[in-house]
Amino acid sequence: MSKGPLSGYRVLDMTQFESGTVCTEILAWLGAEVLKVERPGKGELGRYSQANPGVDTVGFLIMNMNKKSITINAKAPEGLEILKKLVKESDVIVENMGPGSMDKLGLTYEACKAINPKIIYASLKGFDQAGPYKDYPAFDPIATHTGVMVSATGLPEQPIKCGISVADSGTGTMLALSIISALLQREREGIGQRVDIAMQDFMICLSRSQWEPYYNNGKVPNRRVANGMPLEDVAPSDTYPCKPFGLNDYVHIYCSRHPGSKQWDNLCDVIGRPDLKQDVCPEMSTPRERFKNREMCDNAIKDWLKNYDKFTAMDILCKADIPAGALLSVDDITNDPQYYTKDRNIMVEIEHPQRGKVKIPGFAPKFSEVEVEYKCSPELGGANEEVFKDLLGYTDAQLAELKEKGAI
Ligand SMILES: CC(C)(COP(=O)(O)OP(=O)(O)OC[C@H]1O[C@@H](n2cnc3c(N)ncnc32)[C@H](O)[C@@H]1OP(=O)(O)O)[C@@H](O)C(=O)NCCC(=O)NCCS
Repeated sequence: MSKGPLSGYRVLDMTQFESGTVCTEILAWLGAEVLKVERPGKGELGRYSQANPGVDTVGFLIMNMNKKSITINAKAPEGLEILKKLVKESDVIVENMGPGSMDKLGLTYEACKAINPKIIYASLKGFDQAGPYKDYPAFDPIATHTGVMVSATGLPEQPIKCGISVADSGTGTMLALSIISALLQREREGIGQRVDIAMQDFMICLSRSQWEPYYNNGKVPNRRVANGMPLEDVAPSDTYPCKPFGLNDYVHIYCSRHPGSKQWDNLCDVIGRPDLKQDVCPEMSTPRERFKNREMCDNAIKDWLKNYDKFTAMDILCKADIPAGALLSVDDITNDPQYYTKDRNIMVEIEHPQRGKVKIPGFAPKFSEVEVEYKCSPELGGANEEVFKDLLGYTDAQLAELKEKGAI
């Protein structure tokens, strides 16, 4: 197996919390050397939680695998000098500080470009840097609210935000893709560049399917259909209860909205209701007719599901070519060995110095020529010696002085 596709590239990582850290973690999983810059003593904001102050958060473990941590006080002149040396030695800088923070530090794109003309300088913010909200801070829910998603999610009278940080992790992933593209262009044309992404803008793109119902029915506010099909009137399309009827005992069943699809007829065979097939039962003849008569459609499904748990129901339905998904929780995934196999490796068990063995999600894509290696998130300042001495050439005496001054 080869080394990671990004091996040989160095990333200066000035990210925090989820959005930016997800971006640099992807680059690290793909083999880049990621130097995570953290505040001396405290570390990155996402390391800390009120629940367990002395211990790295699980979120930090999940979003900072395969990185090296160095401590630098960017606000001390000596710290800034080290950062500038690292800009020279790096291929990429990634940051997601609040608007204006990098500029205040003197680390604008122009300043970094003057030091290293081929640098790829990547910034992630809540809002577009040329728009009217450019100075506003943002966490994930701000972006999902301002980027269409929440207006399309929930009950007709109640918008509901998503339970996972889709704007954070999604924007970080898109930024990683963009950085790799900029590196490819640099290989070809020899140019560095600035890459900016706003979480609101990413969410607008991610919500793109909402423009279909918007133009089709012109309804304002958007259709909000709970667990139904947001694009148009279709049934079956819902999350149905199964045995033993606990909090997460559900399966989602969705038959294609294409009227020529055989999925509904397949479902009728499985649930023992051939009388409801499209050609036989006018009320069930098209996805739209089934939506109009959805009580009849849903009751037939619910009757059948009374006898099955979500895993069995999913197996039976999918094997009969009916799209169905069990509602799987973190607990379901963490305790299922299928996610840990060598070929799959989407869940990994890492050994953390403070937390011991922890099972967390890894990297989804698979490569035929590369095996993604998983390393635990770094200890605060764990790579100080390696980076400051071996890469930048500082002596022990100089490092002691810098430490004394609180610069590292
Ligand atoms: C997420 C966010 C709202 C957090 O706001 P915050 O807690 O006030 O943190 P900020 O990033 O604004 O500020 C961090 C400060 O730490 C400083 N800092 C960061 N790393 C440092 C270091 N190594 N040494 C010294 N200071 C450091 C910054 O310079 C900044 O100082 P300033 O406020 O004087 O400019 C804000 O960072 C933001 O809007 N980021 C962009 C959008 C984003 O990524 N949001 C999702 C995060 S998951």
